Amino acid sequence: MGNKIQTLSGYIHEYQKSVLQPEEFWSRIADSFYWKQAWSKTLEWDFDGPDVKWFLDGKLNITENILDRHLFTKGDDPAIIWEPNEPGDKHKVISYRELYEMTCQFSNTLVSNGVKKGDRVIIYMPMVPEAAVAMLACARVGAVHSVVFAGFSSTSLADRINDCEAKMVLTSDGNYRGAKQIPVKEVVDEALEKTSSIEKVIVLNRTGDKVDMKEGRDIWWHDAIEGQSKEFKAVEMDSEDMLFILYTSGSTGKPKGVVHTCGGYMVYSYYSFLNVFQYSQGDVYWCTADVGWITGHSYIVYGPLLAGATTLMFEGVPTYPNAGRFWEIVDKYKVNQFYTAPTAIRALQAFGLEPLEPYSLESLKVIGSVGEPINEEAWHWYHDHIGKGNCPLVDTWWQTETGGIMISALAGITPNKPAHASLPLPGIQPVIVDSEGNELHGNNVEGNLCVKFPWPSIIRTTYGDHERCRQTYFSTYKGMYFTGDGAKRDHDGYLRILGRVDDVINVSGHRMGTAEVENAINEHPKVVESAVVGFPHDVKGQGIYAYVICDMEGRTEENLKKEIKDTVRKIIGPIATPDEVQIVPGLPKTRSGKIMRRILRKVASKDISNMGDTSTLLNPEVVEEIIQGAGLK
Ligand code: PRX
Repeated sequence: MGNKIQTLSGYIHEYQKSVLQPEEFWSRIADSFYWKQAWSKTLEWDFDGPDVKWFLDGKLNITENILDRHLFTKGDDPAIIWEPNEPGDKHKVISYRELYEMTCQFSNTLVSNGVKKGDRVIIYMPMVPEAAVAMLACARVGAVHSVVFAGFSSTSLADRINDCEAKMVLTSDGNYRGAKQIPVKEVVDEALEKTSSIEKVIVLNRTGDKVDMKEGRDIWWHDAIEGQSKEFKAVEMDSEDMLFILYTSGSTGKPKGVVHTCGGYMVYSYYSFLNVFQYSQGDVYWCTADVGWITGHSYIVYGPLLAGATTLMFEGVPTYPNAGRFWEIVDKYKVNQFYTAPTAIRALQAFGLEPLEPYSLESLKVIGSVGEPINEEAWHWYHDHIGKGNCPLVDTWWQTETGGIMISALAGITPNKPAHASLPLPGIQPVIVDSEGNELHGNNVEGNLCVKFPWPSIIRTTYGDHERCRQTYFSTYKGMYFTGDGAKRDHDGYLRILGRVDDVINVSGHRMGTAEVENAINEHPKVVESAVVGFPHDVKGQGIYAYVICDMEGRTEENLKKEIKDTVRKIIGPIATPDEVQIVPGLPKTRSGKIMRRILRKVASKDISNMGDTSTLLNPEVVEEIIQGAGLK
């Protein structure tokens, strides 16, 4: 584990080296992997393209570094521990050797069902070990996986299938989520009515629900793997070949497919995992994310398994059957590193300390947070009651596009500061810029967060639309990657993330484009126009507030609000359901027709002080009507 930083001075030294000699720095880390052919050049980059390549001409297969490499040294060690939704049901411990065999067997299954290198495969599955096996098998055969969170609707699923022209869907009959049972296969069937590229669907038997199996297209997982060999020679991939596509929301239009490639992603997900969580061999590490999000990719599957770690996967939810479930699991498996989202912490905090009483939590060494700014109150509750005041709390800032953690304390090595992501990892060069793109040096500065030098797991493109990638991330500030977040460097030099500065909201750690929700609302036949903004929400961080102009004929306001919520649920999925819908007579607009979202955000957050000068609006009278409609006057 020579790549693990051990001391604060070690961090400072590594950081300096990574900035002064980035290529030598990353070459050294990459050297600890098995490459079928060494790279000829470490880095080529140009942010204007953008065109970033790492470990050029290097040949590898990421699964050889996860599985084959660990077979002799850790074949019997647990790779995945799986805790099912129902506490009384049998858990599973899967060793590195078993994971190797399951992956090879499923690789053969993919190939015999027509999947070739470069083909796209959609994974729409519950949190079961087979989901990780599916990802690894795709990587082993050179196919590109795109995991879609199984809470998304059939329309969202169909959009993603169509965008990447996927050939296969891997799914289950149904999913367990707490007390609920979700008919996943039905959603897939509905989605496939709107797509034409899918040739095969492989269905895992999870709930035993009765499902329709379409002859010639659908196969049960257990039938498909039967008789398949448990050996599969990993396909040789170029360092810059695609590893996966993951769709994420932006400020405009439909979600975009963020593309990550094999070599750089492997090096960075491993390096960041090892250093942020300070994982030691034999530790049990648990990240509560879903594999449908980037956190699940980098810090349930790839990062930990590349490091030969034991990674825990949990199928259920934090409050089922009660609000002590997380803590019960921590004690049951003696979890050493625990990584979750502020929204889960706030939700559990609301139950008080009683659910914690039966549990010691004494195995915990490191606790972590991801997905949204963690407020000080939640930070202290987490630190004091879960970490018992003696576990470093790593507040990890990063994004789908960055592939791995960018700004965070290294547990126990660099200092913790409540609500501050703190310092960049080695190799990461964040800058704060003003609106003209001038870099703001020194401490006590606030502005937009950019990164001025590439790191190995930076987004390469947005699938099928490179121009969109350039426009979104590389055109706002010349020569820099723009994150879309605001940030502050405080008087001690620590970075604090202030949240999105674009039209993206963060609901329970899930990214949502306001335009995307508006488009869904506008599908309702009675809706004339809508505007969606975020507002502070005690548990979710941000809630969704929709202002809607409607044709009210034949409807009551209550009916219409419900129908609008249902429309969004159906088109995007339950996570995008507006918390509030306000029917309004008009939307405040500038003379050029632009919606004044600032005003709408203030009303949604119940703050009508300092509304600013509204007299220059096209329709100033509407502001008063909206305030009254919101019950604020
Ligand atoms: O606004 C930031 C917020 O989540 C966004 C990225 O969302 P997504 O791509 O879905 O990835 C989430 C998991 C990495 C960022 O632009 N965000 C993420 N982590 C933090 C955060 N905001 C503040 N503090 C964090 N630790």
